[in-house]
Parts: sequence; structure tokens; C-alpha cells
Amino acid sequence: MALVEHMNTETRRSAQRIVGALAKSIRERDRITYEHSRRVATYAQRLARSMGWPRKLAYDLALSALVHDLGKTWIENEVLHKESALSTQERTLMERHPQIGARILEMYGAPRLIVEAVLHHHEAFDGRGYPDRLTGDTIPIAARLLSVADTFDALTSERPYKAALDCQQAAAHIQSSAGTYFDPWVVAAFLALLESWPDFLVPRHAAPLPPEPAARPNIWSHDDLAG
Ligand SMILES: [Fe+2]
Repeated sequence: MALVEHMNTETRRSAQRIVGALAKSIRERDRITYEHSRRVATYAQRLARSMGWPRKLAYDLALSALVHDLGKTWIENEVLHKESALSTQERTLMERHPQIGARILEMYGAPRLIVEAVLHHHEAFDGRGYPDRLTGDTIPIAARLLSVADTFDALTSERPYKAALDCQQAAAHIQSSAGTYFDPWVVAAFLALLESWPDFLVPRHAAPLPPEPAARPNIWSHDDLAG
């Protein structure tokens, strides 16, 4: 398994500032992506905590999730907001978003954990993902967690071209891709988490998240970026 790099306090503060500014730029450009990213941040953080990640490291993963689709802000509107199927050329363009996002984060001096999570969040466990067609454990662990959280939110969100699935339907979908698209170990942890957590879905609005329920792992809140 790829090792997860720990950030020191100064690096984490700098990452917070960078991600906070870039998340605001996503909010200005594309509200849907911004709100999706906030929910993914919460799901990814819960998942990491349930897998035994230390609180600060789970928070770093949440920061990565907030900007995982940053590269989409550089994709033209006709492609970004297209409601019908994308052409091959448009799909190729869309599939550049992890590299664009990672490059921007690198330019701003974001920590490696965040850059790598963003760069590899569309890799597939069997090597059929993008951009680098990495396989299995060669995919950074942060990206493997992010991928499950990202897909879960996409499945449980309504889009102009599809209805939202409920938690059970989304869980079944994710389970069916364990070992092909997703790391089976991460999927098992996510399904156990879903099973143990009634009302797992994050509310669909932009207000700060409710306070952390007792005896639950920390929930990331946008307020964490304010200071
Ligand atoms: Fe993405």
C-alpha cells in the first residue's frame, strides 16, 4: 500500500489557505461542483476516520476532496454543462481535469498528498482509469478513498439527466465495482460505515454542516477553512 505523507502544522495551514482560496474559485465558477465537493469532503473524511486514519490526516483528505474537480473550472461551459452524452473529443477534454487541477495545485505549492489525490481520483483499481492507468496499490490510498466518496455522492445526487439513487442502491452499485473500479478493501470499509450510520447522506444545501453527532468521527465543516 502506498504510504500516506503526514503534513506538519505549518504545511497544513498553508494547505488550508491554498485550498480555501481555490474552493472559493470553484464556487464562483460552478456551484454544483462546489457543493458536490463539499459533500465528498465529508464522506471522504468519515471514511478515512472509520478506517483508522488519524483525525488530522482525514482532514487533509477532506481538503483534497474540496478541490478534486478544480480542473473542471478550466473546461469550457458547453462541455462542462452538457446534458447529453459527450463526444469522444469532449470526453478526452473532460478527462484532463485531474491533470489540470493537480498542475494548478502544484503551482500554488499544495502538499503532495493533495496533489496526488486530485491527480489520481479517476484511476481504477484494475488499471482502466485515467490519467495514468495505475493499478491496485500503486494508486495513492488517498485517491482510492476519494474515488469511493466521489462516486457515492455522484450516485446519490440528482442530475438533469438522471435521478438520485438512495443509499442502498448506491451501495449496491459501489459494491458491484469493488476490485474493478474501486479498491475492495476501501469498499468494504465504506459499506460497513454506511451500514452503521443512519442518515449518512449530507443535506443538499450550502449552509455549514450540522455539528458533529456524539460518538461519531469528526465531520469536516467549511468553517474549518475560515480561520
Ligand atoms: Fe473528477
